[in-house]
Amino acid sequence: MASAAPSLPSNDAQCRAVVGLQWGDEGKGKVIDLLAGQSDAVVRYNGGANAGHSVVVNGERFALHLIPCGVFHDNTQAIIGNGVVVDPFQLLKEVDGLEQRGISIKNLALSSRAHVVMSYHKDEDALREQVLSSSSVGSPKVHDQAIGTTKRGIGPAYSDKAARSTAIRVGDLLKPDVLNEKLERVSYFKNKLLASHTSAEEHEDFAPRVLADRCAEIAERISPLVTDTTYLLHDLLDQGKSLLFEGANATLLDVDHGTYPYVTSSNCSALGIPAGTGVPGSRIRSIVGVAKAYSTRVGAGPFPTELDNEIGDRIRKQGNEFGTTTGRPRRCGWLDLVAVKYSAMVNGIESIGLTLLDVLSGIEELQVCTAYQVDGETTDRFLPDAADLGEVTPVYKTMPGWTEDITEVRTRSGLPTAAQDYLAFIEDFIGKPISVVGVGPDREQVILSDQ
Ligand code: IMP
Repeated sequence: MASAAPSLPSNDAQCRAVVGLQWGDEGKGKVIDLLAGQSDAVVRYNGGANAGHSVVVNGERFALHLIPCGVFHDNTQAIIGNGVVVDPFQLLKEVDGLEQRGISIKNLALSSRAHVVMSYHKDEDALREQVLSSSSVGSPKVHDQAIGTTKRGIGPAYSDKAARSTAIRVGDLLKPDVLNEKLERVSYFKNKLLASHTSAEEHEDFAPRVLADRCAEIAERISPLVTDTTYLLHDLLDQGKSLLFEGANATLLDVDHGTYPYVTSSNCSALGIPAGTGVPGSRIRSIVGVAKAYSTRVGAGPFPTELDNEIGDRIRKQGNEFGTTTGRPRRCGWLDLVAVKYSAMVNGIESIGLTLLDVLSGIEELQVCTAYQVDGETTDRFLPDAADLGEVTPVYKTMPGWTEDITEVRTRSGLPTAAQDYLAFIEDFIGKPISVVGVGPDREQVILSDQ
């Protein structure tokens, strides 16, 4: 589909990245879509079908979970790197869905070293969450210790990757002998694990033959996509082609740098790119960090600026803050600049993409968190450990809001003064420029820094 979108100011970096600076759902799809038109390949490096990138093209909404957003540009190759955990049935569902709507996926490539999310991973994910949310585990006072996962099998698939003996990689799907041997072993462990917490009627018996048949079902269709994406990416680089890495989930959900343990199981920040693709970090020269003009979070975990009130409800409604992947209502709150500045630091961003500014129109006064109070002290440092972050009280700066509809505004100077001041305050606090502002869901509803 040809791009009718405005483009971001061009930038010579051969490798660029777009990452989320909050807890996900920042509207990265929109910024990726803008940059994808200027890139020869768009590359996913982490996560799996837990992510949900939505892009609105010509008024039509597309929600992608595994396929990189680059597919909306005819000449851009879409690559799923080794760091992604792939549910092949979900992948083929997305391929079919796009083709039915006239989008070609001829340029899609899938790493032979990406790990496969199998059906038992999803059962394991659901089982863990169920056990953790019941009162049978831990202190009787704490009833719900669940992470609030998407139940897409992401954690169990990455656990198996680290455990090695029970992991299946995409390349294994194409080698029946290797696969069958692995499935014998996997079946032994998974059936024991699931049977230890559920009755025979409650869980499927993952017999090796059943699993093998399921894999055979998809192997033929997956096969033409599978390749060594590390060499593919380096070949593209040698040919002078430009790459865009798209982060799934977001920095505060990063397994090492996020609000652990309420995180996902991959390195979602730009730090995950080298490991998840085989492209050295030194080649990534330009990173756009995407943040909403407010904050949201799905699932459990500390959220200092959460608004459990009418304003939070209003933001949820105006921003359509319901999960792309699970449909869950998102928790909403004020913009937390302590968190965003931390994420900007960890990623080494060059500029900020600020999305959903239009959602704040009509709120009389805005609050922006600029520090935390903890143990009677004020700090400007983010506390990524969930237990520590749960103890902080946000310190707010109050700013005037604006009432005007800004969805048709296309220049920064055309925004109400209060909105301009809001952007300037963010830039000043983070110490990085805002290169793109989202003022509505459509591809064209953006303000670019040079306009
Ligand atoms: P998991 O990735 O399904 O294991 O979920 C772990 C945590 O990350 C849960 O709180 C999810 O709600 C959250 N999460 C995972 N992916 C996304 C995303 O793309 N957007 C928002 N939250 C996410």
